[in-house]
Amino acid sequence: MSEQLPTKDVNVLLAAAIAAPSMHNTQPWRFEVEGHVIDIFLDGSRTLPAEDPTGRAMRISAGAAAFNLRCAAESLGYGAWFGLAPYPEEPDLLARIVVEPTEARNDELCDLAAQIPYRHTDRYPGDATPLAEDVRIKLMQAAYAEGAELTWLGETEVHKVLDLVLDSDLREVHDWHRRAERSHWVGGERPREGVPSSALGPRSTGYPSAVRDMGTRPTDRLRDERKFEEHPELAILSTDFDEPADQVVAGVALERVLLAATRAGISASFLNQPLEYEDLRNRVQRLTERPGHAHMIIRFGRSRRHSGTARRPVADFLPKEQS
Ligand SMILES: Cc1cc2nc3c(=O)[nH]c(=O)nc-3n(C[C@H](O)[C@H](O)[C@H](O)COP(=O)(O)O)c2cc1C
Repeated sequence: MSEQLPTKDVNVLLAAAIAAPSMHNTQPWRFEVEGHVIDIFLDGSRTLPAEDPTGRAMRISAGAAAFNLRCAAESLGYGAWFGLAPYPEEPDLLARIVVEPTEARNDELCDLAAQIPYRHTDRYPGDATPLAEDVRIKLMQAAYAEGAELTWLGETEVHKVLDLVLDSDLREVHDWHRRAERSHWVGGERPREGVPSSALGPRSTGYPSAVRDMGTRPTDRLRDERKFEEHPELAILSTDFDEPADQVVAGVALERVLLAATRAGISASFLNQPLEYEDLRNRVQRLTERPGHAHMIIRFGRSRRHSGTARRPVADFLPKEQS
């Protein structure tokens, strides 16, 4: 085995990693490559102190990037082994991934790697067709394969989530820190990072709605209005514990679920605002009727409208001497 991963392979691996979802598309990760080891660190200059004061969303995002990297490694003929949040004394190091040539190809991960360019957060209305039972089961299995749990909500629980959305939105009305932070990342043209107005989707005619309206600017309020699903298909992604490593696990599982959904022609968006308040987050978890810690409220649908977000170039995520 060569001492160093070929540069072209490193570029493919990191391009896949940075295509992962991240809260407000902050892309809050950086990488260090040493031989066949790739470390994923938090980028402390990309925190969201008002909306994500504990860094949980950053760790979920980095977990999603780690899963993409693992899938891309498989598609290049490598096997990839993880250590998640390996050293408590080094909290910014979220994942250490060893990438080595392997004879034992993981077909499922290769297949999911092919979905990476097609996965986008989709804030358009879905059609009313309920998801097939086998699709629901496959998405639950995807979460389970990575150590997390995906719980589908029944109609009553969905409406309870929408009540919690209302509750969290009301708390936010007078919170200028949150609004200022969001307008720093969301709206307008965003050629490198953040969520552009074009990815916000239409405004909803109803409220509370199946989609989170991330718009912050006066012009965003002039977006077209559309009717969203009255009974959205919502699922909660949770882990048993809530340590930093569990939050990275949640991100790994999230991306596996999202890529499996993309492959099945299902799009996803997130209604996470209640999870940004600890008391409401506990109430969301209780709706699953299981112990654990809720990390994402995912709305699945079938709109297939693509509204992409940009990424910074790979070199931006590496130390100067490696880029
Ligand atoms: C931890 C986390 C929380 C997120 N929360 C929300 C949310 O509440 N509402 C929403 O519409 N999108 C949410 N997103 C989606 C991001 O805005 C999206 O991933 C990012 O803008 C990049 O766009 P893409 O997913 O289309 O690549 C979240 C993503 C992550 C990883």
